Amino acid sequence: MAKDPVRVLVTGAAGQIGYALVPMIARGVMLGADQPVILHMLDIPPAAEALNGVKMELVDAAFPLLKGVVATTDVVEACKGVNIAVMVGGFPRKEGMERKDVMSRNVSIYKSQASALEAHAAANCKVLVVANPANTNALILKEFAPSIPEKNITCLTRLDHNRALGQVSERLSVQVSDVKNVIIWGNHSSTQYPDVTHATVKTSAGEKAVRELVADDAWLNGEFISTVQQRGAAIIKARKFSSALSAASSACDHIRDWVVGTPEGTWVSMGVYSDGSYDVPAGLIYSFPVTCKNGEWSIVQGLSIDDFSRNKLNKTAEELSEEKALAYSCLA
Ligand code: NAD
Ligand code: LMR
Repeated sequence: MAKDPVRVLVTGAAGQIGYALVPMIARGVMLGADQPVILHMLDIPPAAEALNGVKMELVDAAFPLLKGVVATTDVVEACKGVNIAVMVGGFPRKEGMERKDVMSRNVSIYKSQASALEAHAAANCKVLVVANPANTNALILKEFAPSIPEKNITCLTRLDHNRALGQVSERLSVQVSDVKNVIIWGNHSSTQYPDVTHATVKTSAGEKAVRELVADDAWLNGEFISTVQQRGAAIIKARKFSSALSAASSACDHIRDWVVGTPEGTWVSMGVYSDGSYDVPAGLIYSFPVTCKNGEWSIVQGLSIDDFSRNKLNKTAEELSEEKALAYSCLA
């Protein structure tokens, strides 16, 4: 029997990531090849004509799974009955700007959209915040939508996770699909800590530790980390726009794994509400290694954290605490 359609909201749908993301959702990349979807696309009035153009293209592409399209500049109409909300709308970082520069422009958007989601989304709606500053936007959304369970509000660090997999795969000349269990700790920013301590590669002789195969701690503790931390800025420098196809693809990975589950023995990175695990202060949206089952994520517990890693976990937590304070001061 055919499944009922799932309603997926994409905010900022007329923007770059939106343009890459909506066809992926309509093709089943996010929720599966047997899952019909109804797309809800929100943008602001100056982008209304472009948004309508995206809707026309979705019709023209004749996606079999796409059972309807709502394209609107009305946040209430956009949020009505949505099961999944991918929050991409906001002001993007431009070349030379730090993420904090875009804070005040974005937290007020997330405060007002929190209320609309709380009032109009389906019960148990899962929320993924992509727009920067992603962790802090998600935190503001959580704080101003108190009736949405905190476990349902997450932010995107899967792009950073995938970037880390990509760097290891390039360095070792192995398939990216054979690399697993890297971790992105903390903020989706240049303080994030891409950690390979527990990462492995599938080889013909079984699973081997990335540290053993790379055998170059100087690279793993230096250039590898800074390359992943700075990859967003490098893309902006090269394209003059921030990453879009990789962000859209990673957003699909995030939601798919959250809904469908992570494979046995594999974890992924998600920005989630911290509960004090790994001595990260509670009350931040912080990226942790998680496994997903039955539509719920759980933080992987019991991983060893050496002094090098401890310092890096603390540094990115400090930045998130500062961002939280700054966000509240922007809203005051
Ligand atoms: P973009 O400027 O191309 O698109 C943003 C869209 O949001 C625009 O169409 C704009 O009109 C719309 N918008 C602005 N305010 C809105 C509002 N109040 N409600 C609804 N829509 C609104 O930007 P982009 O390149 O698509 O990037 C979107 C966001 O994602 C940026 O904040 C960017 O920094 C961030 N980003 C995050 C990651 C990540 O891994 N977390 C990766 C890449 C980009
Ligand atoms: C990215 O990681 O590509 C984006 O978040 C762009 C940015 O602002 O760094």
